[in-house]
Amino acid sequence: MTAEPIVSLSNVTKTYHQRGQDELTALDDVSLQIGRGTVHGIAGFSGAGKSTLLRSINLLERPDRGTVVVNGEDLTALPERTLRQRRRNVGMIFQEFNLLANRTVVENVELPLRLAKVDKKARRERALATLASVGLTEKAQSYPERLSGGQKQRVGIARALVTAPDILLCDEATSALDPRTTDGILELLAGINQERGITVVVVTHEVHVINALCDRISVMESGRIAENFELGTPIAPRSPIARYLFGLADRPSRGWEVTDA
Ligand SMILES: Nc1ncnc2c1ncn2[C@@H]1O[C@H](COP(=O)(O)OP(=O)(O)OP(=O)(O)O)[C@@H](O)[C@H]1O
Ligand SMILES: [Mg+2]
Repeated sequence: MTAEPIVSLSNVTKTYHQRGQDELTALDDVSLQIGRGTVHGIAGFSGAGKSTLLRSINLLERPDRGTVVVNGEDLTALPERTLRQRRRNVGMIFQEFNLLANRTVVENVELPLRLAKVDKKARRERALATLASVGLTEKAQSYPERLSGGQKQRVGIARALVTAPDILLCDEATSALDPRTTDGILELLAGINQERGITVVVVTHEVHVINALCDRISVMESGRIAENFELGTPIAPRSPIARYLFGLADRPSRGWEVTDA
């Protein structure tokens, strides 16, 4: 990677301690660099540590060890107040959309601006402009329950973009959607990356999402990165997990579980 990466994780380790259970290492000495303006995928099966890795990029998950450098600044060294400001630079969308049911669409999108203490008029204007950019102007006054899954995710995307972040984190953002709706959302995300230059990090277990969107991916297994690769050129996965993910090998014999659920 030539230019300075926008995100650089070094030796990040995160262990969960639960009473009455063995401790669980969700991230095990992970180092990863994400290029500015790229779409970076994090793939792997359930429990591999993908969400924990994603959430450590904005320090929603604080590592036990290691550093998280974003835009040249070590977030692990920042006081909580400064960290809250920096988080506005990182939008996030989720599989289950996480919209507030008792707020209208436009009020949901305004929420991050309200937290940032932007005044009422300015935040309404910015929320409406952001809703227009995801094609949802006519739903501004609706409540989330009246929207389709795809529309709900567009609201989630608008809410993530309203603070004009330069990174967008997506945790299984299309896993609750049907294939056609998924493609619409993937196109929207690709446009956001290309037109606004926003760096997009997508967690997924779907090869389709990887192929449609990613410039580069990291394949995770048991809290570690098994393999990184560049897409767009012929790929030759070496790790058993990546070979399985890309349909090149049978399921590796042990170390993780797949269910059909
Ligand atoms: N708050 C927590 N407390 C205890 N264990 C946790 C917590 N969060 C995650 N874990 C454990 O850490 C491991 C990694 O979890 P993570 O959610 O990052 O996996 P994932 O790859 O995102 O899985 P999935 O595809 O199912 O979402 C799992 O074994 C999980 O049970
Ligand atoms: Mg997850």
